[in-house]
Amino acid sequence: MSADIFDLIIIGGGPGGYVAAIRASQLGLKVALVEERPTLGGVCTNEGCIPSKALLDSSEHFALARDKFASHGIIIDPPRLDLARMLARKDEVVKKNTDGIAFLFKKNGITLVTGRGRLAGTEGELQQVAVNGDRGTGTGEREKIEMLSGRKVLLATGSRAVELPFLPFDGERVVSAREALSFAAVPEHLVVIGAGYIGLELGSVWRRLGAEVTVVEMLARPLPTMDGQAAEALLRVLKKQGIRFLLETGVKSGAVQDGRVRLEVAGAAGDQQLVCDRVLVAVGRRPLTDGLGLEAAGVALDDSGRLVVDENFRTTATGIYAVGDLIPGPMLAHKASEEGIVFAERLHGELSRVEYEYLPGVCYTWPEAAAVGRTEEELQQAGVAYAVGRFNFLANGRARCMDETDGFVKILADKGTGRILGVHIVGPRASDLIAEAVTAMTFGGTAEDLAMTFHAHPTLAEALKEAALAAGNRAIHA
Ligand code: NAI
Repeated sequence: MSADIFDLIIIGGGPGGYVAAIRASQLGLKVALVEERPTLGGVCTNEGCIPSKALLDSSEHFALARDKFASHGIIIDPPRLDLARMLARKDEVVKKNTDGIAFLFKKNGITLVTGRGRLAGTEGELQQVAVNGDRGTGTGEREKIEMLSGRKVLLATGSRAVELPFLPFDGERVVSAREALSFAAVPEHLVVIGAGYIGLELGSVWRRLGAEVTVVEMLARPLPTMDGQAAEALLRVLKKQGIRFLLETGVKSGAVQDGRVRLEVAGAAGDQQLVCDRVLVAVGRRPLTDGLGLEAAGVALDDSGRLVVDENFRTTATGIYAVGDLIPGPMLAHKASEEGIVFAERLHGELSRVEYEYLPGVCYTWPEAAAVGRTEEELQQAGVAYAVGRFNFLANGRARCMDETDGFVKILADKGTGRILGVHIVGPRASDLIAEAVTAMTFGGTAEDLAMTFHAHPTLAEALKEAALAAGNRAIHA
């Protein structure tokens, strides 16, 4: 096997790397992928997007049964939580997904090498990748090093959670998202540091299951990159659900003692001490570049520690490419996958490109928050003249049937051309609804195009049509 020469060696089997491997192999390349974990799918599939959504769905069912069934005329004894079963189901969902990717690898004839890969120089025209691992034999001989040779290397090692220097992760009381997806018991009091995607999603899970949850955020509002009105609306609903927010508040110090964590925080509401049994630190992620041999290979990093790449995803070193969380842009699974596909196609001589302008972002709280394009604040700052069309779910028939009337759809359209510049949704199934906005924007659509498009009645999607109508001051149901 080692004597084989691959067209492409990929380091990292997450949504960037594994998708690139499949696309490259579809295009006829001989591909090897090096992955350290025993399963494919990376953080997203194993300990991120997929297990968190499994728990978000389960905990939402629990909250519905507890808080909402009675209003639908369904009377049940107060539901009881079987957390072990809920966690086992989450693990089953993960396994189905990782097994699915493993099947796709076999189907596409991709060579999977289990171990830790690093750049190990060149031999003539060929890149060398050293793999320190047991080749999946399960023998645990991790010191065994294997050399792979290939024409190109794609780096797709992703990112890892940022640690607070004064409050290091201990895997038990002070944890990252990975452990917060598997608490064996519902925390009494969970303090979440950082009101970003991870903090709000996992804070929601444990709040629904009964924990007291306090979110500490150093900025004045959650989800700092989101449209201001949308972030405000989401904040209001999450507060109504019982999550406590300490905004404009920083954590000064923390100490773990006898199973409790004491945090000294300082902010808008003054100095105070928080005592809790678990702390989730969710203050961002940083690219996983350690031990890859980047410096020796001549791969340059930018000031934020991301790899510098051109439009072909070529790093500053010949024959070495990178996608996903390693390179600039939001750290999102669907961004990494799209980059993986476009990387493979461009390597094959095709002129595909990633439409970064239309990259959607979703926060999977309930209601969900989803966005694509520019925020109102960004348009104001850029001096762009725009029209706003807004429609509240309160006036949407389907949302009323569902008893899910919190939130709205907001469409921002260019005042002159009508072209849609941004869409912001807080509401039920915003994650699915945003797809229509992404499609319309990618095709260069205007608010009028959306307004003139059939939307089945009664559906949540009608809120998009109404918001588009409102952008032209002709909403019917507002
Ligand atoms: P994030 O970047 O989304 O949010 C971090 C938050 O922490 C920010 O609001 C920031 O102001 C705050 N913060 C930073 N330092 C702080 C401190 N010392 N004290 C208090 N607050 C502080 O990061 P997060 O939630 O850790 O997620 C990491 C990455 O994973 C993000 O890039 C996100 O895009 C991605 N992700 C995306 C999801 C989705 O698309 N649904 C779900 C989970 C993660």
